[in-house]
Amino acid sequence: MCGIVGCVADEPVAGILLEGLRRVEYRGYDSAGMATINDGSLKLRKGVGRVDEIEDEQGLSKLKGNIGMAHTRWATHGGVTNENAHPHASCKGLVAVIHNGIIENYVPLKKSLIAKGHRFRSETDTEVIAHLVEDEYKRTRDPTKATIAATKRLKGQYAIALMFQDRPDVIVGARKDAPLIVGVGEGKMFIASDVLAFIGHTDRTIFLDNFEVVEISRDRVKILGPGGKEVKRKPTQVAWELSDLSKSDFAHYTLKEINEQPKTVITASVQEPGKVEQFARAIRRAKSLYITASGTSYHAGLLMKFRLNKEASIRADTVVAGELKEHAGFLRKGSVVVAFSQSGETADVLEAVKGAKSKGAKVYSIVNAAGSTLARESDGVLLLNCGPEVGVAATKSFTAQVVVASMVVDAVLGKKRSNGIKELSEAVAEALKCDEQIRDLVHEYKDRPDFYFVARGYESPVALEGALKLKELSYIHAEGMPASELKHGTLALIEKGTPVVVLNPSGDAHADSLSSAEELKARGAEVIGISDIEDSVYTHFVRLPKVQAKFTPIVEAIPLQLLAYHMAVAKRNDPDYPRNLAKSVTVK
Ligand code: M6R
Repeated sequence: MCGIVGCVADEPVAGILLEGLRRVEYRGYDSAGMATINDGSLKLRKGVGRVDEIEDEQGLSKLKGNIGMAHTRWATHGGVTNENAHPHASCKGLVAVIHNGIIENYVPLKKSLIAKGHRFRSETDTEVIAHLVEDEYKRTRDPTKATIAATKRLKGQYAIALMFQDRPDVIVGARKDAPLIVGVGEGKMFIASDVLAFIGHTDRTIFLDNFEVVEISRDRVKILGPGGKEVKRKPTQVAWELSDLSKSDFAHYTLKEINEQPKTVITASVQEPGKVEQFARAIRRAKSLYITASGTSYHAGLLMKFRLNKEASIRADTVVAGELKEHAGFLRKGSVVVAFSQSGETADVLEAVKGAKSKGAKVYSIVNAAGSTLARESDGVLLLNCGPEVGVAATKSFTAQVVVASMVVDAVLGKKRSNGIKELSEAVAEALKCDEQIRDLVHEYKDRPDFYFVARGYESPVALEGALKLKELSYIHAEGMPASELKHGTLALIEKGTPVVVLNPSGDAHADSLSSAEELKARGAEVIGISDIEDSVYTHFVRLPKVQAKFTPIVEAIPLQLLAYHMAVAKRNDPDYPRNLAKSVTVK
């Protein structure tokens, strides 16, 4: 979703902002732009396409000035056009704004502003903010007061940054239900939607809360709370480093992140003393227990539910975040919601936990981004510790989520510590050796229109995950389901040559899954078996190392991630930036 980066410095900022734009590209966008103030004049350049294309056409980095802000836009209101790209300026170019979110009441606001004589240049909801702030600025002559007054009239979600033509010393930011943070550097101050935008310059970060307004200048940060009172908040040091952001020798971030997973299982398993037990206690005491998340994180949440239900006999429901409100009747004081999220900024997840908290539930989250909104709004947090995940497709964060959730379930089961992490790391490294074999499969199957992924019991969320990965990276239609459901409809779609991936580790469900594979084969399917036990039913067999049952999803995910990645490359898709997808879905 939209990316924000602004900087006030004692040196020209355009190069710094361009670098920041490249770092927030991973969030997903369709157009981008930059504005700076130099010699009392506000200059704006923007365009459609990739940041580097816009730089080539418009020369963003040639903008002069020691203050500026830049934006990657994910279109919601108004088509993908130059005019709709941010920044937006007010009528006379007095105020410029960049925005992430949706202004729900922009239609009546726009009407009343037009009636007052304002001229609009774009179809966006965002542009109303520039005009509203302009009016307030003319009245107050104070950037912060003008922003506070204008934002009081906004309904919806926003993270905004504003510049004022006659104030080349300050950028003002405000947020409600969308992420916005400050980066405190030496001789430069940043405002951004995430840490990656400025991590090359500083790791000292101030996280802003809802309804706060911030004014940054080169060497000062002033935060005002909802009542207009100054809030003192010290910067926290974020653990991510610039080196985490290089692709190393890999062609894409996605491939790099897939290959990092032997390390991921180790780093995810290192948690602050007592925290896992705190989670476990809350789960044991919960009057009702929900697990909530979206996308890949939801699949990790399903795995946790399986173990809690089956091994700990604790009733838990995993519900996609956008649907948790339908279960509100079961949420009350004493309920616990466990939320999974890599970014900690997914709008559906944030709304789900907000709703749950309003009913009296306690929220425990498993997140990658320390300091994210979800982390700050939770009663307890476990971090994934897997470093920044730049590829839009979640890979290492899934693995980290399964490790952390397994530790929590082990603690619920009364185990003093989770064993087998070192062996798991070795097994993941072993699983990664299937890369060559997966490339061969991709060569054979890249032109097939449909793929199916099936599994039973604890493995079935991995089937969903395999299908999700393949869809989002290769754009091939894919479905994942429990193998038991095949007979209830899907077998009708199986034709000669339809590829079906069967996840079938040794264990209780092995024989039943082999029967499903036979049924599929009898109808013409080409069965790709992924298991630690070979069988003649499989057209192709990918051997995985045997691991403890609780960790099978982690090793199974490896060939599925590689399948999606290599399929994308074979189809000439960009695996790091798949079409129509955003890394951090910050709007509903
Ligand atoms: O940051 P989150 O984990 O909350 O994100 C949830 C989903 O948007 C995310 O998992 C998405 O489905 C990924 N693109 C999957 O690869």
